[in-house]
Amino acid sequence: MIPRLVRLSRRAPKDRHQAWDTYWAGITATGPGGEVLWDSGSDHEFLGYKDSLLRHLDPALPVVDTGCGHGSFTRALAGIFPRVIGVDVSPHAVARARAESAVSGNAAFAARDMTAEGAGAALAESINAGVDGANVFIRGVLHVLDPAHQIALVENLRLLAGRRGTVFMAETNFQGNPVEYVSHLGATTRGIPAPLELAIRGLPMPGHFGPEERERAFPASAWDLLEDGHVAIETNPVTGVPGQDRVPGYYAVVRPRR
Ligand SMILES: C[S@@+](CC[C@H](N)C(=O)[O-])C[C@H]1O[C@@H](n2cnc3c(N)ncnc32)[C@H](O)[C@@H]1O
Repeated sequence: MIPRLVRLSRRAPKDRHQAWDTYWAGITATGPGGEVLWDSGSDHEFLGYKDSLLRHLDPALPVVDTGCGHGSFTRALAGIFPRVIGVDVSPHAVARARAESAVSGNAAFAARDMTAEGAGAALAESINAGVDGANVFIRGVLHVLDPAHQIALVENLRLLAGRRGTVFMAETNFQGNPVEYVSHLGATTRGIPAPLELAIRGLPMPGHFGPEERERAFPASAWDLLEDGHVAIETNPVTGVPGQDRVPGYYAVVRPRR
């Protein structure tokens, strides 16, 4: 399996932003039976976060779904918060999210590189977050960034959160090498499930993000930890094999020190 994986992953564009946009430009189906690896097609995972979100995020503030992809979690957030904005580095992801969210009157979308210097302040201004700031929801994004980009993104989140915003994150935290990871997701010597193959051939190899990575990216000198724990990140149930669609994950709720 290793030579095949190496061959496939060599085709991914080296520029990460271009890789994401090319990936999203090629997606033709989302939701149940769709092509997106991290899309379970169900709101089951989100419902597991709901109590924690309602406990910690001030509903008077907008919620920014950072790295929203095709917007499935943005739409779920819009079901429980009055105002949600999904942002993603990929214009094709944003276009898709917008098209799929036409009936969600309280969800809006914008293309933003959230690792770019000044992106947090610029977004806060464009959504009129004011000094109180915005809440942030982020799922499956930190683990695809290298440590320097994680730090840059977190600085933007700190500015975006302003005086009253809170950050909720959920990330995959699989402990194992790339072959163990793709095997967990259903790859065998006989074949690779289509959504997984699309991700391998088009995207940078993901890392993992757990308590250690969170402590480094959101240091205790600047962030208060309100809650954290284990979660299962639910992915596309393409193989039908029980458990293969669930990746061990980590969630945390943090707030800038004020
Ligand atoms: C694994 S997907 C998760 C999408 C979505 N959060 C979800 O859970 O369905 C990671 C997303 O992060 C976006 N992304 C990657 N780098 C980014 C950046 N620098 N700024 C904003 N979004 C980014 C990608 O385009 C992609 O949509």
